[in-house]
Amino acid sequence: MLREIKKNVYWVGKTDWEIRKFHGDEYSTHRGTSYNSYLVKDRKTALVDTVWSPFGSEFVRTLEKEVGLDKIDYIIASHAEPDHSGALAELMSRIPDTPVYCTANGAKSLKGHFHKDWNFVPVKTGDTLDLGRCKLLFIEAPLLHWPDSLFSYLTEENILFSNDAFGQHFASGLLFNDLVDQAELYQEGIKYYANILVPFSKLVEKKIDEFKKLNLPLDMICPSHGVIWRDHPSQIVAKYLEWAKDYSENQITIIYDSMWNGTRRMAEALASGIRSTDDKVAVKLFNISRSDKNDVITEVFKSRAILVGSPTINRGILSAVAGFLEQIRGLKFSGKRAAAFGAYGWSGESVKMINDGLEKAGFELLNSGLKSLWNPDDRALDECVGFGKGIAVQSAQRGRETQSSGSRTFP
Ligand code: FEO
Repeated sequence: MLREIKKNVYWVGKTDWEIRKFHGDEYSTHRGTSYNSYLVKDRKTALVDTVWSPFGSEFVRTLEKEVGLDKIDYIIASHAEPDHSGALAELMSRIPDTPVYCTANGAKSLKGHFHKDWNFVPVKTGDTLDLGRCKLLFIEAPLLHWPDSLFSYLTEENILFSNDAFGQHFASGLLFNDLVDQAELYQEGIKYYANILVPFSKLVEKKIDEFKKLNLPLDMICPSHGVIWRDHPSQIVAKYLEWAKDYSENQITIIYDSMWNGTRRMAEALASGIRSTDDKVAVKLFNISRSDKNDVITEVFKSRAILVGSPTINRGILSAVAGFLEQIRGLKFSGKRAAAFGAYGWSGESVKMINDGLEKAGFELLNSGLKSLWNPDDRALDECVGFGKGIAVQSAQRGRETQSSGSRTFP
């Protein structure tokens, strides 16, 4: 269904209420998502992105019925991931000569996905496409979040089509940011940033700076997932700038797995030590084997420090903790501190392995970690409480230097 979002500009995407796992099994989508595609009807008609392939036929049928496929003069492919390019296969089989505007990397990537030599028109920052009354101004956005990513700005209507940037995995029929629950929107917005954009924070800052220097009026930001930012669209830009600068709130997160509850009891004693020293800091505990990993990553993003624990097993660590360390290695958080802990019975390698993983992930170690032999007794738990007290003090020193305001709502 076409929904007009501004004069002669339509949302023609698909709301996916069912999806609960995205990127294979790598990203949980508790609130579903949407694949936003936009149509600009001017003297020429341009389609900005498509939808994920399972919805390709439905998408093409809707365009055929409500617009007419022969009326589409140009296609803009902002990014080749199949959640946005998936319907191209069917669409291009119907209108094979239609020019596809994308970056040079976009053409490479689309060819790699579809093995078709469509009529690609590679564009660079500053290139424009004249639609009649309006123009599309292209702005390359490499690594936000793929090397092929492209923003397009629609003159006269002052719309930035930002593709994945500023998006959220958030299904809503309400379409616009001012109409949805702000807490839900914030939760999905920060989760999206923490799980997808964190490694590219420096580029986020640079790209926003570059866009601001263009001095273009901005009425709307139309991302490729979730709601459209029409009410103070600069609010999400301000949030991105805040998140891009080594963001943290007054929070310490304890992430662990446990075999016989020894490491869990250590985790709880650590939390008690932290709280007894600082009753303002939010201390959150997650057994990573029983928690949603993307939600935990979001909590890591909000933390000034994390504690990671595992007992030793087979001279190593539990697989859920190993998976978590691999995930944070790739995300490259910066400006955060960490420490390791774990119970052991025989060889006791877990703390060293966790320390190695935390360092590889860019965390600054607060100390060499804490081990507890066998089932922690009262003395061992007292030691954990003392360790927690030290963590509260050490992480607060840095926290005071760099902590953000930690506001939890969009300004
Ligand atoms: Fe929404 Fe990078 O795809």
